[in-house]
Amino acid sequence: MFCMKGRVFSGARPTGRQHIGNYLGAIQNYVKLQDDYDCIYCIVDIHALTTLEETSVLQDNIREMMLDWLAAGLDPARSILFVQSHVPEVMELHTLLSMVTPLSWLLRVATFKEKAKQQPQNVNYGLVGYPVLMTADIVLYKADTVPVGEDQLPHLELAREIVRRFHTFFGATFPEPNAKLTDFPLVMGLDGARKMSKSLDNQIELAASPKDTAKRVMTAVTDPARRYRTDPGHPTICNVFTLHHFFNDGLVSQIERECMAADRGCVACKQQLAQGINGSLQPFRDRRAEIAARRGYVEEVMADGARRARAIAVETLKEVKYKMRLLPR
Ligand code: TRP
Repeated sequence: MFCMKGRVFSGARPTGRQHIGNYLGAIQNYVKLQDDYDCIYCIVDIHALTTLEETSVLQDNIREMMLDWLAAGLDPARSILFVQSHVPEVMELHTLLSMVTPLSWLLRVATFKEKAKQQPQNVNYGLVGYPVLMTADIVLYKADTVPVGEDQLPHLELAREIVRRFHTFFGATFPEPNAKLTDFPLVMGLDGARKMSKSLDNQIELAASPKDTAKRVMTAVTDPARRYRTDPGHPTICNVFTLHHFFNDGLVSQIERECMAADRGCVACKQQLAQGINGSLQPFRDRRAEIAARRGYVEEVMADGARRARAIAVETLKEVKYKMRLLPR
């Protein structure tokens, strides 16, 4: 039987070089979804402008991120990989969707309230409209499945409400997008206390050199109750131990035993983690270097992605304009 694949859309802000939290929490999942869906992955540079005051790094961040995506296995032959602003139709749809979005819905969004508190000097119109732009991203491509982290669920719910409201005014047009939660544990940063994040400078970059990786891993916070080498450790509360699960899978029970018996010190443990990370990431790093060395390749991937995305976008926008009577019947 002929079976239509679902369509995945996901967007990520251009944060530059990706870290192991990005990989384990999102990218790895994006790669897998390519087997079962038609996938569209977008670097959302317009969204970045809602909070980015320093734009001089934007182009570098986009390129570095795309390089990481490609090296990790996002495949431009199977998926559409593109940059949000390269398909400007999304901004038209954003404006049209804004007409069916009550302002009160947007003012209630928790992420908006948080951001407004974080940047009181820059509570701009675009920031309030962030979820409307996100909705436009998804429905412009009529995506039905949106892989996101838990923090994005309120945005997805709002997207569904905007879609429903559009439908009550103008008739059924879009699939109601469903969130597809990535069932992945939160990856904590080197401080062991907060989510791994570039803005907190507690990250381990995928593309770092083995030496830099080791240097950063050596700064990781371990079990805070273990003050002397002879104190027994508590692996269950140690973030370095958690990371061993991903990068030294076969050694976990030995590490646990030795730590609890004080047969293993934190320094040696971190050295071994760095080794595990460097070993696991070497194929990725080789691939990345190879892709980065191909002149013009990343630009080509982005141009091709934008061309394919735009072909879909133009059709959807035409349909929306008909329905809203912006075009004659
Ligand atoms: N808001 C998302 C984030 O901060 C990024 C995003 C923008 C997105 N547009 C999207 C995610 C569309 C999924 C679908 O992570």
